[in-house]
Amino acid sequence: MNVLESFKLNGKIALVTGGAGILGKSIVEALAEAGATVISASRSATSGDSLVKEFREKGYTIHCMTYDQSKHESILGLKRDIKAAFGRLDIFVNNAVARPMKSYDGSISELELSMKVNGTGNIDILREMANLMESQNNGGSIINISSMMGMFGPDLSNYEGTKMGTPPPDYFFHKGGMINLSNYFAKILAGKNIRVNTISPGGIFNNQPERFLENYCKKVPLGRLANGSDIKGLIVLLASDAGNYINGENILLDGGLLA
Ligand SMILES: NC(=O)c1ccc[n+]([C@@H]2O[C@H](COP(=O)([O-])OP(=O)(O)OC[C@H]3O[C@@H](n4cnc5c(N)ncnc54)[C@H](O)[C@@H]3O)[C@@H](O)[C@H]2O)c1
Repeated sequence: MNVLESFKLNGKIALVTGGAGILGKSIVEALAEAGATVISASRSATSGDSLVKEFREKGYTIHCMTYDQSKHESILGLKRDIKAAFGRLDIFVNNAVARPMKSYDGSISELELSMKVNGTGNIDILREMANLMESQNNGGSIINISSMMGMFGPDLSNYEGTKMGTPPPDYFFHKGGMINLSNYFAKILAGKNIRVNTISPGGIFNNQPERFLENYCKKVPLGRLANGSDIKGLIVLLASDAGNYINGENILLDGGLLA
């Protein structure tokens, strides 16, 4: 197959959880631009609806669904809705994250909610969406979105001179776990030709305080934070036939920060 052809996603059905979020929006856009029919799923219908409107105006095929990753029944409902509307699933970008815990000393109830969404819910949705792909006997691609914070401890000097506080421990726990969970699923699902990979982004620009930007950017060889569009090429590579032999990989997308 011609190499540029192999990146095309025409005829593929893709699910992006957290599709209305900072990174999710670029992921939805990348898959839609490459030709996939994209389902953006998140908790709130409002944010999803405005995303659908914006992308449909650009001519992309995008649908919005709602679910709550802290609830098993809701994950099953999302699976049922996808099956009923499209009959299949080819690409799953596991991107949603809940951040109830804000700092080192966040409460136990915040930690428990984080565990429900980012721990239990994460394994739950991976199994259910893999099951949907398996039933088609046609393979698929799962991309887990972790973070450089799943690979390394926090660099506290980034927060010096800011009021941002200490990053919460649950994030490091879940994002670290997600990387080896991907390895697990990569081996379990390989016999069904379902590939499972992880992308671990560094910091994404989101109007962070000036001092944080200064602290962080001077350490990045490329001199800046990532923006959403930096992830688009990698998403399409891993989702498409162009990435057919990439399985069980974790790709750090940090502008060389940790090189
Ligand atoms: N923003 C960054 O700097 C950064 C850096 C590295 C990695 N990441 C990773 O990228 C991914 C997206 O991050 P973001 O910053 O764009 O997130 P965000 O906070 O902008 O969006 C998170 C999304 O998750 C959804 N969500 C939260 N709880 C949910 C629940 N219970 N059920 C269903 N959906 C739920 C929200 O609706 C939202 O759409 C995450 O996995 C995050 O860990 C982000």
